[in-house]
Amino acid sequence: MVAGRDAGESEGAGYGSGEPAVWRAVVDALPDGAIVLDSEGRVMHHNLAARDLFPRLRPGLVLAQVMRHPDLLAAADRAVLAPDPVEVQIVEHMPIERRITARVSRLSEAPVERQPALLVTFRDLSEQDRLAQMRADFVANASHELRTPLASLRGYVETLQGPARNDAVARERFLASMADHAARMTRLIDDLLSLSRIEMRQHLPPRTIVDLDAVAASALQGMEPLATAARVTLKLSPLQGRAFARADRDEIVQVLQNLLQNAIKYGREGGKVEVRLSRETATGLAGQGRIAVAVIDDGPGIPAEHLPRLTERFYRVNPGTSRDKGGTGLGLAIVKHVMTRHRGELRIASQVGEGSRFTIVLDEVAGSGAGD
Ligand SMILES: Nc1ncnc2c1ncn2[C@@H]1O[C@H](COP(=O)(O)OP(=O)(O)OP(=O)(O)O)[C@@H](O)[C@H]1O
Ligand SMILES: [Mg+2]
Repeated sequence: MVAGRDAGESEGAGYGSGEPAVWRAVVDALPDGAIVLDSEGRVMHHNLAARDLFPRLRPGLVLAQVMRHPDLLAAADRAVLAPDPVEVQIVEHMPIERRITARVSRLSEAPVERQPALLVTFRDLSEQDRLAQMRADFVANASHELRTPLASLRGYVETLQGPARNDAVARERFLASMADHAARMTRLIDDLLSLSRIEMRQHLPPRTIVDLDAVAASALQGMEPLATAARVTLKLSPLQGRAFARADRDEIVQVLQNLLQNAIKYGREGGKVEVRLSRETATGLAGQGRIAVAVIDDGPGIPAEHLPRLTERFYRVNPGTSRDKGGTGLGLAIVKHVMTRHRGELRIASQVGEGSRFTIVLDEVAGSGAGD
């Protein structure tokens, strides 16, 4: 039962009594918040969505007792005389900041006493605003990330055209730096394209079945050169028996390589990095087990306050260090998106001074299905 309706029958004595209540059911069924007012501006009926927005809302009250938005109250006055709906924007600050569009429509030209006269509907624009803000931030961040190496490149070009024109030693040095900056920009564009490709396929879960031990081994192999350069020892701890999951092989290799790259880059120079596969005993909805693949380092770790934000695009714990190491800040965002597409999970655990553990978890499928 709609709370408002019950209250209406007792508080707003006599409202709509004896008449068919179809319009009330219509108001209840509306997805947006809706309030029906009578010719005196009293609340005759409202749905639950409206009550969520304005907790004081009760049938029998006048609008001014329910909310203090002068623009909305004025819109209701105007709407009585206006043939077209009147729209106003209202901003709520408590309990959270929200932007809401309110639309007041006249229901009848000559309202009858105690009959519906105005319909006020509310649309919460906060989610839309949040998405727009995210898009704007993303474009701003991406441009900024590209602008930095681009500015360096232009600086080098100018120096090579001017003061260093005949300096062979400087030329070699500058060209090497220019190659680094160009490579960085390429990486950034590749990562951005990767992200948008994965996002586009988010609703299409992978269908192929892969052997996770083999995928982990292949990801590890690809990271050998980087590990050797950082004097890091890589270790694979496979499962007893093989483990299969429904997954996109290339995407899981990319995920593991992003995690391994981080473990090597931000871990301890001369340290150890382990990829450990394990089978989780808990069973999923379909009764199947899950396979966890953890990438574990013995580096400096990550302070707890950063952990919830690590998968945000361009988020870095230490922006300077990460950029120096050639990071674009997109690696973990890609990991998260791939795991979402796989209906899997990413777990991050880290202890300052001890190291970090990034674990991906996938549903296991029976081995006999391999090669599907
Ligand atoms: N194993 C780790 N140990 C310590 N810090 C880490 C570890 N993995 C990630 N981080 C921190 O998380 C941040 C985000 O990682 P992410 O992989 O998203 O970006 P990146 O490594 O900076 O760039 P990219 O992966 O795109 O080259 C890093 O900048 C780093 O500060
Ligand atoms: Mg990374």
